[in-house]
Amino acid sequence: MTKHLMLHGEHTTLVLAHGDGPPAVVYWGGSLPNDDAESVASALNRPLAHATIDVEAPVALVPELGSGFFGSPGIKGARPDGSGWAPRFTESRPPEVTADDIRFFCEDPIAGLELEIEIFLKNNRDVVALRQMLKNTGDTPYSLGRQSLSLPLPTHAEEILDFTGRWCDEFHPRRQVWEAGAIINENRRGRSSHDHVAVIFAGTRGFDEQHGEVWGFHLGWSGNSRLVAERVSDGRRYLQAGELLFPGEVILEAGETIESPWLYGAYSATGLSSVSQAFHQHLRGRDTHPSLDKPRPVLLNTWEAVYFDHDLDTLKKLADRAAEVGAERFVLDDGWFHRRNDDTAALGDWFVDDQKYPDGLEPLVSHVTGLGLEFGLWFEPEMVNPNSELYRAHPEWVLADADYELILGRNQLVLDLANPDAYAHIFGQIDTLLTDLDISYVKWDMNRDHVQATHNGRAGTRAQTLALYRLLAELGERHPHVEIESCSSGGGRADFEILRHTRRFWTSDCNDALERQRIQRGFSMLFPPELMGAHVGPHVSHTTRRTHDLGFRGAVAFLGHLGIEWNLLDASDDERAQVKELVTLHKKFRPLLHSGDVVRLDSADEASMTQGVVAADKSEALFAYARINTARSSVPDPVQFAQLDPERKYRVTILALPGRSGEFGRTRPQWMDDGSVVLSGKALMMMGVQPPVLDPESALLFHIVAE
Ligand code: DGJ
Repeated sequence: MTKHLMLHGEHTTLVLAHGDGPPAVVYWGGSLPNDDAESVASALNRPLAHATIDVEAPVALVPELGSGFFGSPGIKGARPDGSGWAPRFTESRPPEVTADDIRFFCEDPIAGLELEIEIFLKNNRDVVALRQMLKNTGDTPYSLGRQSLSLPLPTHAEEILDFTGRWCDEFHPRRQVWEAGAIINENRRGRSSHDHVAVIFAGTRGFDEQHGEVWGFHLGWSGNSRLVAERVSDGRRYLQAGELLFPGEVILEAGETIESPWLYGAYSATGLSSVSQAFHQHLRGRDTHPSLDKPRPVLLNTWEAVYFDHDLDTLKKLADRAAEVGAERFVLDDGWFHRRNDDTAALGDWFVDDQKYPDGLEPLVSHVTGLGLEFGLWFEPEMVNPNSELYRAHPEWVLADADYELILGRNQLVLDLANPDAYAHIFGQIDTLLTDLDISYVKWDMNRDHVQATHNGRAGTRAQTLALYRLLAELGERHPHVEIESCSSGGGRADFEILRHTRRFWTSDCNDALERQRIQRGFSMLFPPELMGAHVGPHVSHTTRRTHDLGFRGAVAFLGHLGIEWNLLDASDDERAQVKELVTLHKKFRPLLHSGDVVRLDSADEASMTQGVVAADKSEALFAYARINTARSSVPDPVQFAQLDPERKYRVTILALPGRSGEFGRTRPQWMDDGSVVLSGKALMMMGVQPPVLDPESALLFHIVAE
C-alpha cells in the first residue's frame, strides 16, 4: 500500500511516496504545512490516458523499465545469462527515519538485487542529497551499466541552464528552452571535466538570478558522469544523474554492494542566486569547510612567474616580495622535481631535482616560513611521463590497454592508482615530502583526459576515481594540517565529492580579468567565494594577451580566495605598492566575502555584469560592478541591488581600488561627488543607484553598509 512521508528543509518540502516499489518524489518545492502529505498525493494523482498501459509507473528515485517507465531506467544491468535486465523492486521493510535522513529498503528476489536509497534533507538547509546502494544477492555476477538517481520536476520547469566550457573558459553557461525529449550530458573524460560539468538548473520560463522557481542539480563525482533532463510524452519531466559506466566496468560479484555518487538538489522560488546560496550553505555546513577562524591565506603561486625556470635565489627574492605585499602563503608550482625542465618529462618522479635544488627544498621552505608564510607544493600524482624514472621501471603501471598504441596528452600518461603497487609508490613519495618538509598546502593537479583507461583488462575510470579519493583521504589523515587544492588544467575537476578531501579549487588557468568575470560567475553557481582561487596576474594576460589595469584585475580577484600569479620581481615599485593596497583591502573584507550570501544581479544592460556578497544579517554588502563591453547607450543603467533588507537604511560608497578607476564621463553622478548616498534597502533594490560612465573592461566596488 502506498504511504507518504514529508521532509522539510528551511524553505522547501519534499513529499515522498513509498510502500510499493522504489520511493518516488510526489512534490518538491516551496514549504508546505506538515499534515498535507496525503492530500498532496491525492491532489496530484494522475489519471490514465487512453492507449497506454494500465498503470502509470512513477518517476521513482530509481525509475523502472520493468514497471513500465519508458524514460531512462535508474538501473541498467544483467547477468551473464541475460536475466535481471529489467528489475522491479518492492519495499522489503519500513524506512528508517531520523530527523533529517530517511533510508528506504527494497528488493527484487527474482533479479537477485537489493536496493537501499538514502535521502537527506536537514531542516535548516535547502539541499536534498540522495544516493543508492545496490547489492547483488544472486549467485552469479551482475554486470552493471547504470546506477543513477532521478528527481521529478513540475511541467512548468520549462527552461534549462547548464554549463559547458574548455581550458581557460570554464563554466560557460548554456541556456535553452526544454520543450520535449531529452537533454543528455555525458562526460567520458575521467575527471569532472571542463565541457560536461555535472550541474543543471531547471526553472520557470524566463527565470533569472532573482526571479522564478529554480531547481538545481549537481552530481558529486570526479569521474565520468551522465545527466539526463527528459520530458516524456505524458508530460512529466525529470532529471536523472549518475556515474557513466562503460561496459564491464562494474561487475557486481555475488554478495557485493556498490554505492552510487551523491546527487544534490536545491530549490528556490526566488531565482538562481538563492539556489546557489543553498548549495553554498550546504558546503559551508561541512566539518571540513575552511573555517572563518583561520582566514583564507592570500597566496603567491609561482607558475606564471617562473614556469619551469626554478632558481633558488630568484624564488627567495620572489618570496620576499610576496611577503612585502602581504601574501601569507607561497606555492611552488610545477618544475621542482627530478629533471622537470619542461612538460615532456619527469611526472612520476616526486623527488627534488638536485640540479635546481642541490640542498633539497629545505633552504627555500625555511626561507619562506621564516618570512611568516606557509609553504605549498605542486604535484600531479595521477600522471606519469614516458620519459621518467618511474615509467622506465614500471611501464605496466599505466592506466591504458597495453595491446594498443598509447595515446599521450601533454606528453603524459595516466598512472593506474588502482594498482596497489603504483598507489603505494606514489603515496610513499608524497608522504615523505610532506613529512620531511614544513609543507602546509598541496596544489593537486590533473592535466589529461582518460582514454581507453584500462585497469586489469577492464574499463578503469571508476576504480581510478575511488583510488584517488583513497589516496587523498589517506594523505589527509596522515597530514591533517595540509590543505589541498584541486586543480585540473584550471577548473577541470570541481565537484562536491573531491571537496571532501580538498579545500580550494584552481578556478581557471585564465587570469584575464575580463574572461574571469564570466568564469567566476559560473563557478559561483555551485561554489562559494572562499573555495574559488582568484589570482591577480600581470598587466598582460598570459593566456589571452589582453591588457588590463590593476583596478580591473583586482576587482575580479578580490571576490574569491585571493592570490597573486605574477612575477613581482618584474613589477614596478608602484605596481607592488598597489598590489599591497589590494591585499590589505581584501584582508579587511575577507570575513564578509567568505561568509556572505553570493548575490548575482540581473541587468538589462548586456555591457555590465554585477555580483557580490550580502552579509547573512544583511548589515553590509559588497558588489563588483564591471563594464565588460562597450555599451549601446552612452550612459549606463542604474544598478538595482538585490537581497538587502527593504526596511533598513544603507549608506552606499565606492570602495576605492588601487590603480586607474576607469571612469570616463564628463561628470560623475551627484551621489559620487557627495561621497555617498543613504537610501532604504527597498529604494536600492527597486530603483538602484547610478554608476559613473566607465571604460569597457574596468570595474568598481559598491560598498553598502546599514546605518
Ligand atoms: C596546469 C595548472 O592549471 C596550472 O595552474 C599549472 O599548475 C600547470 N598545470 C603546471 O604544469
